[in-house]
Amino acid sequence: MRVGVLTGGGDCPGLNAVIRAVVRKGVSQYGYEFLGFRDGWRGPLENVTTELGIPQVRGILPRGGTILGSSRTNPFKVDGGVERIKENLASNSVDALVAIGGEDTLGVATKLAELGVQVVGVPKTIDNDLNATDFTFGFDTAVNIATEAIDRLHTTAESHHRILVVEVMGRHAGWIALHSGLAGGANVILIPEQPFDMDKVVGYVESRFQTQYSPIIVVSEGASPKEGTFALHNEELDAFGHVRLGGIGNLVAAELEKRTGKEARAVVLGHTQRGGTPTAFDRWLATRFGLHAIEAVHDGAWGQMVALRGTDIVRAPLGDATKELKLVQPELYSEAEVLFG
Ligand code: F6P
Repeated sequence: MRVGVLTGGGDCPGLNAVIRAVVRKGVSQYGYEFLGFRDGWRGPLENVTTELGIPQVRGILPRGGTILGSSRTNPFKVDGGVERIKENLASNSVDALVAIGGEDTLGVATKLAELGVQVVGVPKTIDNDLNATDFTFGFDTAVNIATEAIDRLHTTAESHHRILVVEVMGRHAGWIALHSGLAGGANVILIPEQPFDMDKVVGYVESRFQTQYSPIIVVSEGASPKEGTFALHNEELDAFGHVRLGGIGNLVAAELEKRTGKEARAVVLGHTQRGGTPTAFDRWLATRFGLHAIEAVHDGAWGQMVALRGTDIVRAPLGDATKELKLVQPELYSEAEVLFG
């Protein structure tokens, strides 16, 4: 058996750990050969391949990014894309594919599986918003980076009696904000699932200053205000109607400065949350996903992906990951809200 491997979508700490586990178990337990496809679906679409075997995966476990490269190429948006993929898989004698990716990459994998391509999936995203799995690798690393930033911002905020607004990733789901905000003791957490009331945020900030401490506000990049409580002066909304990446943190900081008369600063963590070495948890999860993914290949479980349920790695239909996003439930947000202010 010859197995193709690709990584698609935004990169994520732990991708290399998956690739390593897939290859090591595939070679040692099943005697498989491997071929790497470069840059997500662009690889099989344009036939851009790279050697993949034990020597290529040596030493990559702690490395961030992906040795295979990534892209957001979608073969279904390219004329004849699916046929080209099938031809290139055949000309490389690739029998099966392991596709490691998020919503878009697994969405493509789902459709290709329906069209007869022998593919299994591995879910990844730092946002943790894929359904069918309790956690995705990369999320824990992102939360730890954001938590460390919040810890550091507490001390500088205190020294200058300032408001510090920390913008974290999460266009549709507020998991990173919620987890890092709780872990870092943020005074307010704003997430996309719960449009926020700016008057309430001002209230929390003022009550925090009354205790002689400085407020830290964690805001997801996709968070937006309730209509009528805060006018967004940023015209550049993205395709989802959200303020563009890096926008909302600055807007909230400026508005708080205006309304409270206190100095405010915004810090946009951006891609630092996706770079660098994965945490031990993410290496553990990614490695287990890889081991189970190659087992799924061996079992011919086409159209399935691996997923974490509790502490077990299970299989789920690829489509389950993508049919709707896993959002922060209102109860979880209310639980955190008790600590605001
Ligand atoms: O989906 C992962 C993610 O990191 C989001 O949190 C973020 O909105 C997006 O990717 C950023 O994408 P890009 O790297 O293309 O700017």
